[in-house]
Amino acid sequence: MQGKVILVTGGARRVGAATCRRLHAQGANLVVHYRASESEARALQSELDQVRPGSVALVQANLLETARLPRLIDETVTHFGRLDALVNNASSFFPTPLGEITEDGWADLIGSNLKAPLFLSQAAAPQLKRQQGCIVNIVDIHSERPLKRYVVYNAAKGGLASLTRSLAVELAPEVRVNGISPGPILWPEEGEWMDEASRQHIIGRTLLKRTGEPDDIARTVSFLIADAPYITGQIIAVDGGRSVNL
Ligand SMILES: NC(=O)c1ccc[n+]([C@@H]2O[C@H](COP(=O)([O-])OP(=O)(O)OC[C@H]3O[C@@H](n4cnc5c(N)ncnc54)[C@H](OP(=O)(O)O)[C@@H]3O)[C@@H](O)[C@H]2O)c1
Repeated sequence: MQGKVILVTGGARRVGAATCRRLHAQGANLVVHYRASESEARALQSELDQVRPGSVALVQANLLETARLPRLIDETVTHFGRLDALVNNASSFFPTPLGEITEDGWADLIGSNLKAPLFLSQAAAPQLKRQQGCIVNIVDIHSERPLKRYVVYNAAKGGLASLTRSLAVELAPEVRVNGISPGPILWPEEGEWMDEASRQHIIGRTLLKRTGEPDDIARTVSFLIADAPYITGQIIAVDGGRSVNL
């Protein structure tokens, strides 16, 4: 991990920030992408820069603006001179029950969860090939087993799982491409998930009878980047066993 340059999308908060902290603690230099969470991104940068000055750069972008995506890679390489890993973590998440699906909802969910990871990966590929680098896509166990009322989100993450395998084929042998499918780690901040009964229902479906921690995802990202040289095209569920119990 030492000296690697890693771009983490949606890295300012929650699972993305935990991932940044772990990769940084292991010696990586980071480009933390954020959209609206500027104050959280700046706070994370100053926290990590106190450990190693100059080790964290920030980039702001709405990932739905596809034309902007190659520039995120250019800015990373301009700043640190290389790119070793891309972590596609940013994601939008909201219900789209059948009968109420709009083109805007489709564009947002498919855009952040599938289209942006593709166009970022495409732009990053030459740099990643140079470094024998890798891509880690943050998927979801619901890419395989649908979450009711989340038709478009499920499809977007299903597409991301497929994209992970396609990119592994396309970018081999120089670049490894893998995914992680989290189960219940952090509850969404809005919506029906605030309800205690729904949370207990989901926890009850895990084998380990608890939610995971953001660092469970972070340490799997770290493993796939730094300690898994013979793994590509795979998606690892980090879900307390929920996916074998659905
Ligand atoms: N949390 C869980 O339990 C869980 C379960 C299954 C899968 N996952 C997956 O794990 C990853 C991290 O989960 P999380 O709960 O930490 O994610 P999150 O908080 O819902 O979202 C992460 C970040 O994505 C960014 N984002 C959303 N739409 C964007 C857009 N159009 N352009 C740019 N950035 C955008 C936001 O950045 P700003 O705040 O800067 O706007 C947000 O902070 C996601 O891929 C998620 O699908 C999480």
